[in-house]
Amino acid sequence: MDRKKVNLPNIVKLYEAGERISMLTAYDYPSAAIADAAGIEIILIGDSLGMVVNGYKNTLPVTVEEVIYHTRAVVRAAEYSFVVADMPFLSYQTGIHDALYNAGRMLKEGGAEAIKLEGGSAMAETIKAIVHADIPVMGHIGLTPQSIHRMGGYRIQGRDEKSYNILLQDALAVEAAGAFAIVLEGIPGTLAKEITSKLHIPTIGIGAGKDVSGQVLVFHDLLGLSGHKQPTFVKQYAQLKDIAVNAIQQYVKDVKEGVFPGAEHTYK
Ligand code: KIV
Repeated sequence: MDRKKVNLPNIVKLYEAGERISMLTAYDYPSAAIADAAGIEIILIGDSLGMVVNGYKNTLPVTVEEVIYHTRAVVRAAEYSFVVADMPFLSYQTGIHDALYNAGRMLKEGGAEAIKLEGGSAMAETIKAIVHADIPVMGHIGLTPQSIHRMGGYRIQGRDEKSYNILLQDALAVEAAGAFAIVLEGIPGTLAKEITSKLHIPTIGIGAGKDVSGQVLVFHDLLGLSGHKQPTFVKQYAQLKDIAVNAIQQYVKDVKEGVFPGAEHTYK
């Protein structure tokens, strides 16, 4: 595997060569080191960290400081992967100045190489301003978790003709605003395919089928670490939670029975 660090021009090259792009979330040093060693091209410090790592019910409570904290840890491990930090709720919706300032903090204080934000046409001016400051932006449309209350839950978007066409326009607006890529989350495969065929930037799907330029999953979902029932779009490649619980149960037993520590774990 070529271990030269992935940068933005490399991602453009992958897209132009028709090679599918792999993206995964990570939130700390060990998870990022694992993703990096596995050859993931883009690591996202998703605001999903609020739910996955901190146990919040949704992503809304996540702060800029939390994303920066987690981004710093990820950046230290990312020798290969390109690092994208997610803009949390209210860090960019309150105006272009706030958006630019907080996006800048992700690079300046977190060490990220790009930011991601949710929203389509309504965010076009914001994306333009951030890109104008030479901060690469990844868009995110469809089932946008920060809009949970408007959507009435985590519901697949773009199923009826009206929202299908709105999402198509949103994708075009995000591209025209200068985003280098766009996440398509929770939309029908047919819509993702049409968006992908109309855009000239990579589309990264999550619950959007296979006709996109790349895929993203949440680290804990992919590895079976969360223990929750997973949505249809998740493929669990391992069941690490079971393995971890078994290992720790064995440790508890060894402690109770006085089997651990053995002589080999004891200083002479
Ligand atoms: O926060 C996140 O993890 C995300 C990805 C699922 C795209 O936004």
